[in-house]
Amino acid sequence: MGAQQVAERFAELYGAQPEGVWAAPGRVNLIGEHTDYNDGFVMPFALPHQVLAAVSRRTDGVLRLHSAEVGGGITELRLDGLTPQGDENWTAYPAGVVWALREAGHAITGADVHLSSTVPTGAGLSSSAALEVVIALAMNDLYGLGLPRWKLARLCQRAENVYVGAPTGIMDQTASACCEQGHALFLDTRDLSQRQIPFDLAAEGLRLLVVDTQVKHAHSGGEYGKRRAGCEKGAALLGVDALRDVPYAGLDEALARLGDEEEVVRLVRHVVTEDHRVERVVDLLRSGETRAIGPVLTEGHASLRDDFRISCPELDLVVETALATGALGARMTGGGFGGSAIVLAEATDVDTLTKAVEEAFATSGFTAPRVFEATPSPGAHRLH
Ligand code: GLA
Repeated sequence: MGAQQVAERFAELYGAQPEGVWAAPGRVNLIGEHTDYNDGFVMPFALPHQVLAAVSRRTDGVLRLHSAEVGGGITELRLDGLTPQGDENWTAYPAGVVWALREAGHAITGADVHLSSTVPTGAGLSSSAALEVVIALAMNDLYGLGLPRWKLARLCQRAENVYVGAPTGIMDQTASACCEQGHALFLDTRDLSQRQIPFDLAAEGLRLLVVDTQVKHAHSGGEYGKRRAGCEKGAALLGVDALRDVPYAGLDEALARLGDEEEVVRLVRHVVTEDHRVERVVDLLRSGETRAIGPVLTEGHASLRDDFRISCPELDLVVETALATGALGARMTGGGFGGSAIVLAEATDVDTLTKAVEEAFATSGFTAPRVFEATPSPGAHRLH
């Protein structure tokens, strides 16, 4: 759906043209998983899939929300009645952003919103971050708040953590707000410093496939929070602010100090080696050795499967099948427990690989996966 259609639907719903239309993308994470709440490194890029929002201001303290995909009528909320964790519907994401902006002292007086999304939900591709960021950007522009992108991402994370109640890190919102076309975003989640790394696979005869296993995940469920708590325990036991502070070269010594805390040992080992993998991928890309990132991605998968223990049979099957069919590397991406895997492959192998994964899923009796090619796309922006 394009900006024009979203604006037309807005006019049907609310009886006037919107003041503007904004877009915010979903993301896929190339490498750096479960490092963001450990102050570590991540490297996502924006997908061509986006949430579009047609928005106008209101002055009466009312927020009206409508989604093309969810269907049903318009949800009407009073801004002074917004309370954290009082809403279990999709509307908690946009409402949470308005709540976070108002909590931060910004005088938002209401809005009419119509949304339309092409970001698959529950697929580990950050549909919720895209929804948050599109609202934050629209409010920033319409209300002239002048907030920088990284700050909008922080407010969106606060909406997700406090208002929705999902204890996620800062990666997804920053990716949606700050990514650039043709680049992956090398982000230091401690100080939010960023480097745009050119990532043009097509020019090298390569492709990155996303395989959505159709196994739905949810971050407000307990497992994500348990991993996060385990990492915090590890940092406390090691006497550091965050696991980011455990140097890769000192990993063995740190693990030895954790003694028989078997679970914490596994979590710490994943986070510290994963931060190191992000740095290796950045170095390889900068020296033009793109194909060599494949094995690093695959190592990342093994670490998430064996140490962090957040993979699932469908994700493992994608990785195994892809590697057996000539992929350069493959890994699960996103929060885990379902969602999507990524596969780095020669362009000439894409059809064979796709077929092999589809056949393997059919043979195992799994729901057919959704396979598409991911190209690094623009971050959030105003369409008109
Ligand atoms: C989810 C969270 C992110 C990040 C990833 C795992 O996508 O929203 O903050 O923790 O999982 O890397």
